[in-house]
Amino acid sequence: MENILEKIQELKRERQAVILAHNYQRPEVQDIADYVGDSLGLSIQAASTDAKVIIFCGVHFMAETAKIFSPEKTVLIPDPDAGCPMADMITGEQLRGLKAQHPDAQVLCYVNTSAEVKAECDLCCTSANAVTMVQEVLKDAKEIIFAPDQYLAAYVAEKTGRTFIPWHGFCPTHAKILPEDVEREKARHPNAVVLAHPECRPAVTHLADIVASTEGMCRYVQETAATEIIVGTEVGIIHRMRKENPGKVFYPVSEQAVCPNMKRITLEKVLWSLQDMVHEVNPPLEIARRAYASIEKMLNYRS
Ligand code: 13P
Ligand code: SF4
Repeated sequence: MENILEKIQELKRERQAVILAHNYQRPEVQDIADYVGDSLGLSIQAASTDAKVIIFCGVHFMAETAKIFSPEKTVLIPDPDAGCPMADMITGEQLRGLKAQHPDAQVLCYVNTSAEVKAECDLCCTSANAVTMVQEVLKDAKEIIFAPDQYLAAYVAEKTGRTFIPWHGFCPTHAKILPEDVEREKARHPNAVVLAHPECRPAVTHLADIVASTEGMCRYVQETAATEIIVGTEVGIIHRMRKENPGKVFYPVSEQAVCPNMKRITLEKVLWSLQDMVHEVNPPLEIARRAYASIEKMLNYRS
């Protein structure tokens, strides 16, 4: 273990690399990262780092977004099969079909999409800024397509009073969190505050005290006076919460909420990635150029 950590640090210096990790990464991967955060925070880091190489410990669409923000940098993902099933639930062709049915609609896509899909959108958001972007950037839009996450779309619709032309995508990990899980944990821990990610089913978000992106949750748990927290998202985030809040107690709402793709990244794969400079993420230039147009505004809406 000692050895692998030293080798990673040595190679990181040699390659002038930075390691970015999502909040759902394995504890040991989070611990070697230079920055741990949500999709928005990771995009901001990718766009602003001076490093020559970005080792992206997350899923493919996140690494792809980093590359689009920083085309001059080498972006590597330690496991090329770490995809996001929700992002795979809509293709560029399917979105073009939906746009053809609603030619006057503005197209808002969740960052959990491929570069090809982003290239078809007018605007891209994350779970941290979806509500604000709809309220501010799309305030005059008559019709809005919001793809692919039907649950995030339902949550934003409730918060903004807008209606969307939705797509039928969802996150299989968050869909495993059921309202009865929340009820059970609330009964066990009556003084605890309940957090839920907006990718959860509406029946789950309705039971939560706070609905937020993963970074929003981490910020909230640091600021709240509550000392017991029920966490309604992927369980990997609890490592960071415990580390940052040693006096507080965290309960996963469901042990089922594990994203297998996030867990594909291991320390060994991070080391091999640095050693062999694999696996490069490089969307076609023309697609990246069009996708950039939809994502650039997203960085200005930080919460
Ligand atoms: P965040 O942007 O809130 O980290 O969410 C990303 C994600 O994939 C949640 O499943
Ligand atoms: Fe995709 Fe869900 Fe995994 Fe997030 S938790 S990366 S939305 S499958």
